[in-house]
Amino acid sequence: MTTLSDQALQQAMAGLKTVGDCLAWAEQQLAEADVYLGHGTDSFHDEAVALLLHVLDKPWDVDPAIVEETMDPPLRDRLMVLIQRRINDRIPAAYLTGRAWFCGLEFIVDERVLIPRSPVAELIAQQFAPWIAEDEVSRVLDLCTGGGCIAIACGHAFEQADIDACDIDAEALAVCQLNIDNYKLNERVHPRQGDGLAAAHGLYDIIVCNPPYVDAQDMQALPEEYRHEPELALASGSDGLDFTRKLLADAADYLTEHGILVVEVGNSMEAVEELWPNVPFVWIEFTYGGHGVFLLTREQLIGNRDVFVQAL
Ligand SMILES: C[S@@+](CC[C@H](N)C(=O)[O-])C[C@H]1O[C@@H](n2cnc3c(N)ncnc32)[C@H](O)[C@@H]1O
Repeated sequence: MTTLSDQALQQAMAGLKTVGDCLAWAEQQLAEADVYLGHGTDSFHDEAVALLLHVLDKPWDVDPAIVEETMDPPLRDRLMVLIQRRINDRIPAAYLTGRAWFCGLEFIVDERVLIPRSPVAELIAQQFAPWIAEDEVSRVLDLCTGGGCIAIACGHAFEQADIDACDIDAEALAVCQLNIDNYKLNERVHPRQGDGLAAAHGLYDIIVCNPPYVDAQDMQALPEEYRHEPELALASGSDGLDFTRKLLADAADYLTEHGILVVEVGNSMEAVEELWPNVPFVWIEFTYGGHGVFLLTREQLIGNRDVFVQAL
């Protein structure tokens, strides 16, 4: 694995005068080290921009002419340290900056929570249409909420709805609470701790869940960057479906008559189809990328309960 030594940093420092020089240097270092991208950016350029803007304390829509400005040496040094940590320790940029974006909203993140990246954002932005009408949604459950990104985005998408944000991990829920506070959604978004559906109560119009779903083989092969994320947020048994099996067996009991269940299983979608070949999963097609998210209605969950229970 390529690393960045202090000596290489010292040499580079002398030549970096402008913000643009620093950006080009950072991008080149990230590319040469071939860091893994997959936690919010999809190019070395964007990864470098994220770290640079953090250091400059500027938003994404900053005037591009900023590249002509002189870079303050203390800020340049801070950027270099971040690039060094990104490369040598393989820490995703979001953990270095402490923030990530989901559904156009900014979230606090740290190593207690998964970095938000679920394609479910697209479904939330379209208010889960055409599968449910906005005026039918008064309660939503974000199961496996982590830092609360899905719950909070749903709070914005459905302004009248009450949202339960459940997770087994108290540490993750502490981050979720920070995000709820930031968006002043304490009245409508409620963090609850419990295993699976244990903390859920009553009936929901939508249960949306991005559970741990990485299978044992993929867990072994994950790039170093993923090792900074909580294992509890990723691993789910040999076929990646330990969590999902239980959810499918029980979810119908927590849905209203018109209720829907939306679950992300990523690469474990093949295992889902193998396990339940006759269940009519609707696999969502995303315009902006992503795969492995299925939807079932309460009726379909009830109609297939036998095969879900058999798989437990
Ligand atoms: C893939 S992360 C999803 C985080 C967030 N919803 C997102 O989309 O970015 C999965 C989350 O599930 C939680 N989790 C793992 N096992 C759980 C269980 N048995 N019951 C409830 N939550 C669980 C983890 O703590 C983690 O926060």
